[in-house]
Amino acid sequence: MKNAKGKTYEILKPGQKIDWTQKNGEWRDNADFWVKIIRENLDPFRLRLTNKAVLEYFKGKIGLAVLDAGCGEGYLCRLLARKGHKMRGIDLDPKLIAAAKAEETKKPLKIEYSVGNIKKLPYKNGAFDVVLSNHSINELDDPKKALFEFSRVLKPSGRIILFFLHPCFDLNPEDIKEKFPQYYFQNVKITRKCFLVSGIMSPSSYSYLHLSLSEWTASIAKAGFLIEKIEEPHPKIAEMEFDPWWKENFKKPLFILIQAKKN
Ligand SMILES: C[S@@+](CC[C@H](N)C(=O)[O-])C[C@H]1O[C@@H](n2cnc3c(N)ncnc32)[C@H](O)[C@@H]1O
Repeated sequence: MKNAKGKTYEILKPGQKIDWTQKNGEWRDNADFWVKIIRENLDPFRLRLTNKAVLEYFKGKIGLAVLDAGCGEGYLCRLLARKGHKMRGIDLDPKLIAAAKAEETKKPLKIEYSVGNIKKLPYKNGAFDVVLSNHSINELDDPKKALFEFSRVLKPSGRIILFFLHPCFDLNPEDIKEKFPQYYFQNVKITRKCFLVSGIMSPSSYSYLHLSLSEWTASIAKAGFLIEKIEEPHPKIAEMEFDPWWKENFKKPLFILIQAKKN
């Protein structure tokens, strides 16, 4: 289903085998754009809200072995390495990993980056204390595979911290009208022709997966995790009411954070 703003919704049949990230090369084409957005601090959502939420777990902790799964150009690896954690970053996109490695060469923080697929991680069982996924788990055609991999590479009692678009609000009911409830309870690939950050348009499309909230939580539990915390990071109520930027850019709950412990 297509809407006027160039967003498409495709219901995935059960067991449908596609790997859209590799096939479309969306991040390859968006890599330079993304490096600019992150390195020039152009994403107010991250700066004003979401980084703080994602990094909350690490407060007061030191020396954790952390994997940033779908690390992009590596900024969270650098932030956490500076706080004394042992960082590994993996991403499917060679250009983003090249940008991450170039930064590591310039200012070494002992971070190891690899190009790879988070559905099949190149790490030993029990290698990490934490696996972090910032806006990446919902980009996979099959996040369940990644969740089993996260469990495998975690130590007993290790944590996953998953941050992604809020599944209750990622589908736009106005786009799909009376079909909304049928779509909500199925796996839907959502593709945006492009996306805008601080007035800069991405050169390529952006696809992500919608699963219902219950499907996400059941998948996390099935992969061997106990959910400890579900948060919906949002600006303060007064900011939503009086801050012009938030009024314009936070018209519905946008984000969810799920923290779970390996059983
Ligand atoms: C929205 S970007 C977020 C990047 C980074 N976490 C950040 O917050 O800047 C999503 C990232 O997930 C990566 N990605 C998507 N599917 C992947 C997969 N199967 N394996 C590894 N990385 C993947 C993309 O290449 C892209 O860098």
